[in-house]
Amino acid sequence: MSEEMRVVLRNFGKIDPLNIDDYINAGGYQSLAKARSMNQSDLIDLVKQSGLRGRGGAGFNCGMKWSFSSQIASEQKYVVCNADEGEPGTYKDRIIMENDPQSVLEGMAICGYAIGSSKGYIYCRGEYPYVVETLKKAIAQAKEKGVLDGFDIEVRMGAGAYVCGEESALIESIEGHRGEPRFKPPFPPVSGLWGKPTIVNNVETLANIPVIVEKGSDWYKSIGAAGYPGTKVLTLTGDVANRIFVEVPTNTTLRQVVYDFGGGLVGSKKIKAVQVGGTSGGFIPETLLDTSIDFDSMAAKGATLGSGAVLVMDETRDIVDVIERITSFFEHESCGKCAPCREGTKRLHETVHRLKKGQGIASDLDNAERLGTVMARACLCGLGQAAPAPFLTTLKHFQNDYAAKLN
Ligand SMILES: Cc1cc2nc3c(=O)[nH]c(=O)nc-3n(C[C@H](O)[C@H](O)[C@H](O)COP(=O)(O)O)c2cc1C
Repeated sequence: MSEEMRVVLRNFGKIDPLNIDDYINAGGYQSLAKARSMNQSDLIDLVKQSGLRGRGGAGFNCGMKWSFSSQIASEQKYVVCNADEGEPGTYKDRIIMENDPQSVLEGMAICGYAIGSSKGYIYCRGEYPYVVETLKKAIAQAKEKGVLDGFDIEVRMGAGAYVCGEESALIESIEGHRGEPRFKPPFPPVSGLWGKPTIVNNVETLANIPVIVEKGSDWYKSIGAAGYPGTKVLTLTGDVANRIFVEVPTNTTLRQVVYDFGGGLVGSKKIKAVQVGGTSGGFIPETLLDTSIDFDSMAAKGATLGSGAVLVMDETRDIVDVIERITSFFEHESCGKCAPCREGTKRLHETVHRLKKGQGIASDLDNAERLGTVMARACLCGLGQAAPAPFLTTLKHFQNDYAAKLN
């Protein structure tokens, strides 16, 4: 564990999260003061130059996103912290918010200054009531101390829908509507919450901001993979010996994550697959474990870094059974707004369910592959677009598992 690199989790275990003085004594809120002494466009340039890319899944350059909102003249703009964290197997945002809530608030206030916004919302998943309490206490302390200085933050609670993590569905939900994604463009930085320019950033992305402002873009850029610099907080689950969270530079390989940090597999079993990035992540076979975990390296192998969930499966796991559960999850979570997702997730689940029961035929595989390929292109939002990825990647890497189930 000494190889861990704690940037986002720099204060973990060192401060009392519910005592703002601890955070301030550890250097907290100096970055906000520094940011406010800077010209706004220089601040955005610094974040852009650092190469920080979103930690919520889409991997968009953070400074670039901010620059879109900053260029628009509007009497009101919003900063939204995406703390929905509905991805099964992911709990890194919870760890960050529970242990260092002020760093998220500071990141939001810096973003607010950069784009010219005085109002922020944290959209936290409904299953995290204790986190909501922690956030509310942290906000109250920050207000009392006057450190946010004119930047107001409120917490909004989700009601358990996975799709509400998608930024436009999240915005609909804050506005009090059904959580359904919007057609894009316009994208939220141009027209988001109540039609105003809105930056939606993930918890981990925002927690990086104070450190980047403090230490500079060159320092940040020097860590990890060139195209996706910095660190990533990962959560290890499944058949791995150490089911832990860990923060590592982004050029760490999946093998290092599973064996050096995860301690290998439980018992003396061999690894079958690792699913990275949550339920919609692709499956990586043992032969590709030397891939670096950064966004681009994962994408090149047909997988995603996503939220940073790392689900380890040993050789005894039945891939078709795992995929059946995943397709069932997506059928349940599809909001139903667009037909390719509403119908596609249902048919995909039906087909894999049939295969699992040993009632499938060879043409089921071809049809499901075609369906998945169409969904990836035709669905309105990332939920439907990514839903077939686990099926498609396992069809590629674990053909024998499917063939063995055919009738
Ligand atoms: C179905 C779905 C669920 C998502 N869930 C989350 C989530 O829980 N947290 C998150 O930060 N981003 C989530 N995203 C990504 C957001 O739409 C968005 O890209 C992200 O919040 C932007 O922040 P970032 O640039 O800091 O990563 C989800 C996307 C989709 C399609």
